[in-house]
Amino acid sequence: MKLLVTGGAGFIGTNFIKYWLTEHFDDEIVNFDKLTYAGNLENLKDLENNPHYKFIKGDVADPDDVRVAMTGVDIITHFAAESHVDRSILAPATFIKTNVLGTQVLLDAAVEHKIKRFHHISTDEVFGSLELNDHEKFDENTPYDPRSPYSASKAAADHLVRAYYHTFKLPVTISNCSNNFGPYEHPEKLIPLAITNLLEGVKIPIYGDGKYVRDWLYVIDHCRAIDLILQTGKIGKTYLIGGLTKDISNIEVVKMICEIMNKNFDQSVEFVKDRPGHDRRYSVDWSKINKELKWKPDHDFKTWLQKTVEWYKNNKTWWKRVKSGEYQEYYQKQYGQK
Ligand code: NAD
Ligand code: TYD
Repeated sequence: MKLLVTGGAGFIGTNFIKYWLTEHFDDEIVNFDKLTYAGNLENLKDLENNPHYKFIKGDVADPDDVRVAMTGVDIITHFAAESHVDRSILAPATFIKTNVLGTQVLLDAAVEHKIKRFHHISTDEVFGSLELNDHEKFDENTPYDPRSPYSASKAAADHLVRAYYHTFKLPVTISNCSNNFGPYEHPEKLIPLAITNLLEGVKIPIYGDGKYVRDWLYVIDHCRAIDLILQTGKIGKTYLIGGLTKDISNIEVVKMICEIMNKNFDQSVEFVKDRPGHDRRYSVDWSKINKELKWKPDHDFKTWLQKTVEWYKNNKTWWKRVKSGEYQEYYQKQYGQK
């Protein structure tokens, strides 16, 4: 089986490629990535000499780039996206180009190449915001109500994927997952930002009152869910994927990180201006994928947050190079100019 993994040099894509080649070592993977600021090929250095792994630099929104990558591909797992809400508020246009146009270009190529499965990786953020102190959760029937340019662009992409299933009979599946955490996450996102700021003695910025709730899932549980959907998921269906946390606020997450790292919370944080349109609460009901595909999260938040802290402590060079931008020189040194 040959898989085209778009966005494989990003956080979840990197973890997925490593997971896949461990679990399915006979398969071939083509990692197709534009290497934006979020793509870091150094993550996959250990696979450079693996004959089952190949990297192709390209843009999902460019039909010529996509055509080159598509040769002999059986399955597409589409991770490539602009993924950071704060950046989508500063500059929405790239989000529309990559997340919406890029998905459409890839879908067209998938139809043309008669791809056996197009799996689209999406987010719980397409459903909008839940109330605090409420027991409501998102499920597969929750209406879409995206509220940031990021979530709106992901929602548009989800609609396109379903449209290609109905109109062109493209064999698609979609997963909407909650917030992931784990190794190789860019330190612009809350958990790695908090850990690396503490390691550097810099205060952790907490937006607004900090009483925002996210549903957290360890990244490998997400990869395993995608694997199961590819193996036994029903064509045309959507699966929600979520974690084991019970309404944990950003303040509580940061407090846990401070405790793990023996730091005083009050001295380590600063409350800063809120994010515009900040979604209050996300919570995911993952009973459908549990019932139909027997998936459940294996990794509890506390233990794996500790392990994530350890990973960042042990990989200082990795995140220091990311924070300084040095990792971006790696592609040029390794592969030369495109
Ligand atoms: P990321 O920002 O870490 O990585 C994105 C990758 O896509 C990078 O390697 C980047 O270079 C690549 N990319 C960006 N634009 C591209 C383009 N035009 N063409 C080709 N490659 C391009 O993102 P992530 O956190 O790994 O998220 C991956 C996917 O999972 C995204 O679709 C995101 O919406 C979804 N998702 C993420 C989370 C999360 O918590 N991180 C949760 C649910 C869903
Ligand atoms: P983030 O990691 O950006 O993921 P998302 O917005 O996609 O859920 O943020 C997680 C939560 O942490 C969100 O409520 C915003 C908040 N946050 C802060 O309070 N401070 C920060 O510096 C960042 C990056 C996020």
